Amino acid sequence: MVKICCIGAGYVGGPTMAVIALKCPHVEVAVVDISVPRINAWNSDQLPIYEPGLEDIVKQCRGKNLFFSTDVEKHVREADIVFVSVNTPTKTTGLGAGKAADLTYWESAARMIADVSVSDKIVVEKSTVPVKTAEAIEKILMHNSKGIKFQILSNPEFLAEGTAISDLFNPDRVLIGGRETPEGFKAVQTLKEVYANWVPEGQIITTNLWSAELSKLAANAFLAQRISSVNAMSALCESTGADVTQVAYAVGTDSRIGPKFLNASVGFGGSCFQKDILNLVYICQCNGLPEVAEYWKQVIKINDYQKNRFVNRIVSSMFNTVSNKKVAILGFAFKKDTGDTRETPAIDVCKGLLGDKAQISIYDPQVTEEQIQRDLSMKKFDWDHPLHLQPMSPTTVKQVSVKWDAYEATKDAHAVCVLTEWDEFKSLDYQKIFDNMQKPAFIFDGRNVLNVDKLREIGFIVYSIGKPLDAWVKDMPAFV
Ligand code: NAD
Ligand code: UDX
Repeated sequence: MVKICCIGAGYVGGPTMAVIALKCPHVEVAVVDISVPRINAWNSDQLPIYEPGLEDIVKQCRGKNLFFSTDVEKHVREADIVFVSVNTPTKTTGLGAGKAADLTYWESAARMIADVSVSDKIVVEKSTVPVKTAEAIEKILMHNSKGIKFQILSNPEFLAEGTAISDLFNPDRVLIGGRETPEGFKAVQTLKEVYANWVPEGQIITTNLWSAELSKLAANAFLAQRISSVNAMSALCESTGADVTQVAYAVGTDSRIGPKFLNASVGFGGSCFQKDILNLVYICQCNGLPEVAEYWKQVIKINDYQKNRFVNRIVSSMFNTVSNKKVAILGFAFKKDTGDTRETPAIDVCKGLLGDKAQISIYDPQVTEEQIQRDLSMKKFDWDHPLHLQPMSPTTVKQVSVKWDAYEATKDAHAVCVLTEWDEFKSLDYQKIFDNMQKPAFIFDGRNVLNVDKLREIGFIVYSIGKPLDAWVKDMPAFV
């Protein structure tokens, strides 16, 4: 029986290994982590992450061929294939701070693999890493290996949160990069055989190591660039009376462009896009390519611009001040169908409003008050360092309250902001919400999910991204 061990029981390690266990009953899969609470949660009825379809799979496989454990060394020692899916955050201090990937967690995992191994292994980069990381990992493994042979593969993960299980069941492609040597080809083939249990062979792409590593950064940069492109257009739409949904539709019907990933929004969030593009920018700079670095940096700049623009629109529409006004935030997760708040645009929007002394009342169906308070008190880039290493901030942001109901959150509010596109927000009773709000009642839809005409009929002053402006919003003197 092939034994797989995955170091890192997070958003990638957990779902990916659960699907491998489901699709390969003949493979034993152990997911290990240094975080005791995380592993305890994986072994309980309350999984540490919310992902549609995940719970069923874990329940089917756990205890049969899927195990979650903190005994990292034992499972690594026994494994034939070791996936490494640990955090690769942005460095917060030192050389490359604010841009470069922090490979501390990866390096410590590699050193541990070398220390405890007693047999040859395939080590798979599952984390997103800078191109050429495999070379550094090889050096660590080889210099500490006591004669054991390691083959390094790059097998980046392309799942998106909220759709992780269907993405893993039907991936557009699986990418495996390896050394172009007989041993390297053999290792690639071994991993290919695991995926071939459910992924058609034509969709398993094999490349050299550097192409696989770079393709992951490139794919995220291209995806984020589409969002920044449509968001840049949304600002121009507001100035000209064009409607960004109509523009995106017209542009996306060109088969060379395609319709996906063209939804204008308050800005992209999530643990990957910003971090990976900053890393790409840093790699370009280090390789003497400042023009290329500048090009990709614009994707982040437009995203920051879009979040600021949203806050400024709220403040300027509300007589240029939100001081002591109650602003209800519907949705805090970075997208629907996840409880993940890493780099969610809601953090920047809330911080912007708090800077203007607003009172904020937040409702999200999947995010806890503790998480929201942690996010609003945390320093930029600290979020991706494993939670158990971060002391919980004792300070809470007093102007923020968290409710477990949209009606409670919006009661007596001056304004409502929709920051996550949760389906349930579409079917709320907005007449009831309007009746219980201060007047004039404002709605700022950061996801373009609400029925603007209906809201205006009720009496709301409405702003949606990239749509023709409400006369009120348009006629407000430009203070900003
Ligand atoms: P995560 O924070 O959810 O999980 C990482 C886990 O690794 C944590 O539980 C942490 O405790 C554990 N860990 C860290 N160092 C360890 C060590 N030395 N030994 C054992 N466990 C250790 O992160 P994630 O979202 O799963 O992302 C992991 C990697 O995958 C990152 O490189 C990320 O960029 C990449 N990625 C993420 C996504 C996504 O949607 N989240 C998608 C594709 C790729
Ligand atoms: C992304 C990549 O899609 C995935 O392939 C990679 O493995 C990890 O990073 P994820 O961050 O989980 O996945 O979600 P994604 O669906 O890409 O959304 C990222 C952000 O962009 C979210 O905040 C989302 O709301 C936003 N978005 C997405 C838009 O604003 N408009 C769109 O059209 C699409």
